[in-house]
Amino acid sequence: MADPAVPKGNVFDDLVAARIGRRELLGGSLGAAALGFLNGCGLTPGAQGGPLIGFAAIPISRADTVVVPEGYTWQVVNAWGDPIMAGAPPFMSDASQSAAVQAMQSGMFHDGMHFFPLPRGSASSTHGLIGINYEYTDDNLLTTDGMADWSAEKVQKSKNAHGLGVYEARLEDGRWRTVADSRYGRRITADTPFRIRGPAAGHPLMQTAEDPGGTRVRGTFQNCANGYTPWGTYLSCEENFTAYFVNDSGKIPRLQDRYGIPTTKDGWGFRWHEFDERFDAVKHPNESNRFGWVVEFDPYDPNSEPVKHTALGRMAHEGAALSVADDGRVVYYMGDDDYRSKFEHIYKFVSTRPYVKGGGYAENSGVLDEGTLYAGRFNADGSGEWIELVQGRNGLTAERGFPSQAEVLIDARTAGDVVGATYMDRPEWLAVHPLSKEVYVTLSNNTSRGKGKPLHQPDPVGADAANPRAPNLMGHIVRWRETGGDPAATTFRWDVFLQAGEPTHADPLKRGNVKGGVAFAQPDGCHIDARGVLWIQTDSSAQNMAQADWKLIGNNQMVAADPSTGEVRRFLTGPVGCEVTAVQLTPDLRTMFVNIQHPGEAPLAHPGRNDPSRPKAISSWPDGPAGGRPRSATIAIRRKDGAVIGT
Ligand code: FEO
Ligand code: CA
Ligand code: CA
Repeated sequence: MADPAVPKGNVFDDLVAARIGRRELLGGSLGAAALGFLNGCGLTPGAQGGPLIGFAAIPISRADTVVVPEGYTWQVVNAWGDPIMAGAPPFMSDASQSAAVQAMQSGMFHDGMHFFPLPRGSASSTHGLIGINYEYTDDNLLTTDGMADWSAEKVQKSKNAHGLGVYEARLEDGRWRTVADSRYGRRITADTPFRIRGPAAGHPLMQTAEDPGGTRVRGTFQNCANGYTPWGTYLSCEENFTAYFVNDSGKIPRLQDRYGIPTTKDGWGFRWHEFDERFDAVKHPNESNRFGWVVEFDPYDPNSEPVKHTALGRMAHEGAALSVADDGRVVYYMGDDDYRSKFEHIYKFVSTRPYVKGGGYAENSGVLDEGTLYAGRFNADGSGEWIELVQGRNGLTAERGFPSQAEVLIDARTAGDVVGATYMDRPEWLAVHPLSKEVYVTLSNNTSRGKGKPLHQPDPVGADAANPRAPNLMGHIVRWRETGGDPAATTFRWDVFLQAGEPTHADPLKRGNVKGGVAFAQPDGCHIDARGVLWIQTDSSAQNMAQADWKLIGNNQMVAADPSTGEVRRFLTGPVGCEVTAVQLTPDLRTMFVNIQHPGEAPLAHPGRNDPSRPKAISSWPDGPAGGRPRSATIAIRRKDGAVIGT
């Protein structure tokens, strides 16, 4: 049957509603959900009045494979090195292919993603584009001999394995496959030209020798989580961008220091600066100011110029979760997850003007150029405030280092410090409930809480109401509802939805309070589907998973939670050393796409590189004995009976 056409540019959830019927999806009790609050919100059971979560939970796993519940199947759709555009050769399992070939294939470490139906404006659940992030690399697995004889070609291959991609996928005979020679197939790498837009574009802090105007920059990298727009474009978020820069001069400027530019000769060990002078933060002090942004491109137009949006502020952006105000202004919730500094803030952006409903990118390309950025304060009494980060207000004066709005946006972290925003435990993904507009944020962990200091702050920060464990090893989830249910409101009410952990652990700090005693740790990816199921994914490092605390937690996993009852069930476990990240469902909710990132991560300090002489020593997922090395991949999960996922 043909998919029903819906107006071009509708938000994804509207596509789902058009396909299935919103009343059916949410059990028909819209009023109860809209009026309630948090645990009393009365989000009703799933379709046809059944329980929201219907699958049989699976146990923890240490197996080197993906496990899903009885009655479900999974398959690989697209792995690192698979061709995604015309002319790209297939992956060679000895990783001997060149940098140029890598630029036509999937990048290395799959992270955030979004499903865009084809044709554009349809609600197809059998054909679409996947916009995807390739967060970073293990350069010891990227080439045959790894980082030995480090060279310009190896740096180029590393850069080409980072960034973003678009690939076309189609469901045929119950299996998803990547469409070869797709006209949409695209790679954006660490060298692809971007336009810089918004209030900080052209500011002296954005100017470099390569770009004296401060309006154009090459590349994006460390793209972690993502977002999307109501006009059908993909958003990607630059997270640990500092990892590639090095300032070993012994005299680091305050702005570089606040963002954590490495000060040792090798930095985080990516070693790009040895062959690309842009990453020498002494010679080119402003280059790092051009990273740490939310970026946008149109996946339906392979020639569209990608953009960096300075209006949304600069930070270690984890993701950008969309909400839309009644008047059509777009709202993005954003976490700043700095792996090193740990204590950062949660932000919200509200566009100045509403988007053009039914319009595409052409009609809406300026919407994200102008708006108000806020930082969140979570008060002990359960109230919360969004504090404007606007030059001249709330102490953001020239004397404090903010002579214009450009400085506020480029140094959004310090702006958050100045206005008294709350220091959160590594805020990761956020998810907005499609009906109540409640927002959920994963806080993966903060081992420094209670003893460490936020960067440039005089005192250690201990437990507080919104970050109740010090230290916080296992992570938790906070949620809030805006005043009046208005995404543009400046006040909210919040609570702690759950504290993750190992339910039998002797240490109460590591035990958690998950209903039903489901063991999982360090929540990271999350998504609320159109039925209201909160999917929670975990990202414990291989180093953590090797500890005794993880004995009864196992490999990284994905659980499903009912936001109204707090019930949690384990749905998926990943292979050895992987992170489970990103969840997307097709509009009919019958296919779920998930990314398996860095299977086989070595249990060493981040970023956990492998031994190139033994690439399969830890994991050989997904190719098994026939393959040469583990590969990140997008998988598709379906029910054997073809029914809705999770029921
Ligand atoms: Fe790339 Fe905060 O995870
Ligand atoms: Ca990751
Ligand atoms: Ca993440």
